[in-house]
Amino acid sequence: MADLIIENLTIAYGDVVAVDNISLSVPSGEFLTLLGPSGCGKSTTLFSIAGLNDATSGQIRVGNTVLFDGQSGTSVEPEHRNIGLVFQSYALWPHMTVRDNLAFPLKLRKVDKAEREKRIKEALSLVEMDAYLDRYPFELSGGQQQRVALARALVYRPGLLLLDEPLSNLDAKLRERARVWLRELQERLQVTTVYVTHDQAEALAVSDRIAVMSEGRIRQLGTPKEIYESPADAFVADFIGSSNFLRGRLTEHNGPWATVRLADGSTLRASMGKESLEGEVVIAIRPERMEVVSEPAENVLQVEVVSGSYLGSVYQYELTGPGGRCRIQTNHEVTDKQIHVRIPPEAATLFSGNSLEKAA
Ligand SMILES: Nc1ncnc2c1ncn2[C@@H]1O[C@H](COP(=O)(O)OP(=O)(O)OP(=O)(O)O)[C@@H](O)[C@H]1O
Ligand SMILES: [Mg+2]
Repeated sequence: MADLIIENLTIAYGDVVAVDNISLSVPSGEFLTLLGPSGCGKSTTLFSIAGLNDATSGQIRVGNTVLFDGQSGTSVEPEHRNIGLVFQSYALWPHMTVRDNLAFPLKLRKVDKAEREKRIKEALSLVEMDAYLDRYPFELSGGQQQRVALARALVYRPGLLLLDEPLSNLDAKLRERARVWLRELQERLQVTTVYVTHDQAEALAVSDRIAVMSEGRIRQLGTPKEIYESPADAFVADFIGSSNFLRGRLTEHNGPWATVRLADGSTLRASMGKESLEGEVVIAIRPERMEVVSEPAENVLQVEVVSGSYLGSVYQYELTGPGGRCRIQTNHEVTDKQIHVRIPPEAATLFSGNSLEKAA
C-alpha cells in the first residue's frame, strides 16, 4: 500500500479560499481523519485527492506518483488514480444489483469476466454481504447499503481509501458498531485511509492520527490522545471533547507554570499551553477534571450551582463564579447551592482567547 503526501495545497473558488496551504503526509497503512466544523474544507481536500476537483496550487503524491502538481499543470484523471472513494450518501446506482454496482468500476478498468466475479465475491465477503449479490439497493437497509458502497470502493484494490462521512446516515447505535467494524477491516487490509468527519467522538475512536481543521487550515495534527490531552489552542480544546474556559489575566509565569488573576481578584495556578502568552488569557479545564471539595484552599474557587442533570453515568452541573460560567461532571450528587471546586493546575491549560472567539 502507498503513502500519501500533500504539499502546500490551496484550493480557491473565486474569493473563497476553501483550503489554505495545507501540508500533510499519511504513511502507508495509516488511518488519518480530517476533523472540523462544517465548511472548514474537509470534503474539498478529500475530493482534490480523488481528482474530483482541481486544486489551485500545491502538490499531491501517492508513493512516487504525482497525482496533482499546480506548477507543471499535472492532474491525473480520477479513474487513473487508483483511489477508492465512499461518500456520505452511499451513491449506489439504484437500477443496478449489488453485483452490477461492484462490476461497474471493474469493467471501467477492463477486468475480464471471470476475474470480476472472483473479486466481487471477495469484496462482498470482506463486508459480510456475500449473500446479497442479486439484491437492488432499495432492498437493503442503510447499514447494508453502506457496506456495499465500501465493497464497491475496495473491489479494484485501491492503494488509498477516501471516506467522506460514510456513517452519517446510520442511527447512533449502528453507527457505533459500523465504526468499529470499519476500523477492523481497514487494519486487516492495511489500506492507507483518509476519513472525513465532523464528529469528534468518532474521530477519537477510529483514527491513528487526526488533523483538526478550521477555515481551510490544519490547526493541529496528532494522535487522538495528543489532541485530547494537549490541544494546540483554545479552538482545538473546545472542538475536541468539551472544555470550560475561565477568563483572566496572566500575572506571572515560570517555566511550565503560570498564575492567572480572575475578575474577582482570586488567583489560579495553571499550566502554560503551546502558545506564548501575555495579558488576557483563558484557562481551559475539562468538566470531568474539576473536583468538588469541602473547603477553600489553593486553586479552589467558590461557585454557585445554577442547574444540574443526571446523565446516567455521571452528574453534570452548570456553575457560575469568578472567570464566568462553567460545567462540572462528577460521580457524586451535589445538593448545596454554594460549593467549592478545585481546578487541578496540571489539568488547567492556558490559551489565548483569540482562536476561541474566531471559532464561535
Ligand atoms: N464548488 C464550490 N464553489 C464555491 N465554493 C465552494 C465549492 N465547494 C466548496 N466551497 C466552499 O468551500 C468551503 C469548504 O467546503 P467543504 O465542502 O470542503 O466543507 P466541509 O468541511 O466538507 O463541510 P461539511 O462538514 O459541511 O461537509 C465552504 O465555505 C464551501 O462553501
Ligand atoms: Mg463535507
